[in-house]
Amino acid sequence: MTTQTEIMETLAQVMDPELHRNIVDLGMVRDLETNNGTVRFTLALTVPECPLRDQLLTEAQTAVSTLPGVESVHVTPGSMTPEERRAVFGISSQLPPKSTRKQVKKVIAVMSGKGGVGKSLVTGLLAVGLKQAGYQVGILDADITGPSIPKLFGAHGPVTEAEDGRLRPIRSRTGIKLMSVNLLLEDETQAVIWRGPLISQMITQFWQEVDWGTLDYLLVDLPPGTSDAVLTVLQSLPVDGIVMVTTPQALAAMVVGKAVKMAQTVNAPILGIVENMVSFVAPDTGKRYDIFGPSHISQVTTISGAPLLARLPLKSQVAALCDRGAIEAVEEPEVEVLAKGLIWHVPVARTTMIP
Ligand SMILES: Nc1ncnc2c1ncn2[C@@H]1O[C@H](COP(=O)(O)OP(=O)(O)OP(=O)(O)O)[C@@H](O)[C@H]1O
Ligand SMILES: [Mg+2]
Repeated sequence: MTTQTEIMETLAQVMDPELHRNIVDLGMVRDLETNNGTVRFTLALTVPECPLRDQLLTEAQTAVSTLPGVESVHVTPGSMTPEERRAVFGISSQLPPKSTRKQVKKVIAVMSGKGGVGKSLVTGLLAVGLKQAGYQVGILDADITGPSIPKLFGAHGPVTEAEDGRLRPIRSRTGIKLMSVNLLLEDETQAVIWRGPLISQMITQFWQEVDWGTLDYLLVDLPPGTSDAVLTVLQSLPVDGIVMVTTPQALAAMVVGKAVKMAQTVNAPILGIVENMVSFVAPDTGKRYDIFGPSHISQVTTISGAPLLARLPLKSQVAALCDRGAIEAVEEPEVEVLAKGLIWHVPVARTTMIP
């Protein structure tokens, strides 16, 4: 029968394709037991919903089953603790604790399990509404590979450095502070093709090494899905709550359900749900169309246990203004509704800025 050392050597040939290190070095292989030709071990994945889960489990199992004397291999999927994850991703565990981040009062992440449901639009409109209500607002664009915040606000770099070397956010027309990878690129059309750990690092830098100044609310626009980047935000930033965005489709409700589970796994409270693209009212006839079918919002509010903050119709004027970088010119009642909903659930005292 093959020894445990030989099994570990074999498993060290299995690489995590995302992290480019083998699963033994990454500390993923645990509780190895051998007994009369039966091998059992746990494979601790970075996150329970790891997209590479099946691939890694199969590769580990296949590698061990080819060893002499091995008759059966049982691999139990497990997951790493937050500290282990931080160590793997090379993220400093020395991030300032919540109490020391004196100047940013509340951090709110805007999330959804699905792409294209309007997270960035909702983040932008929330910021506009909060600013109109007299609050100091910033947006951290955590979508490193698909940043859309600068485009919505018509904002451009270059970002400059403060005296202490931290980056100064770009101010939008109405004074919303913005930081996005697109404001750092020389050519905004350049693609950012980075692997998970680099993306995670960039996000933590946007939190730690940006001179946000005094902010009542910092909104974080998350990329779609339940990727490493989302996990980095939820675990490395002092997130006070999540706004979950969904659309009426059953599929969206199902995928959002996954994001809700992720938020619950990392103990990030879901403050409220925004249902986007609920209906379209034809401007010429006034006829209402439910483009994405009947709403499944009650499913999402039930799974999440969170209230509905707002329902946004599909409006071509809104899309047109966003395309022109003029989100701050959107004059829809929903902008105020959104902001009021957030202020109600996460109240802060307004900061009065001395001009
Ligand atoms: N209610 C709406 N009315 C009109 N257009 C909308 C509405 N919601 C979103 N859009 C448009 O749909 C597109 C996708 O929205 P957005 O980029 O906000 O989605 P997202 O969830 O952030 O996408 P991604 O997953 O790629 O980050 C954008 O062009 C946006 O302007
Ligand atoms: Mg987006």
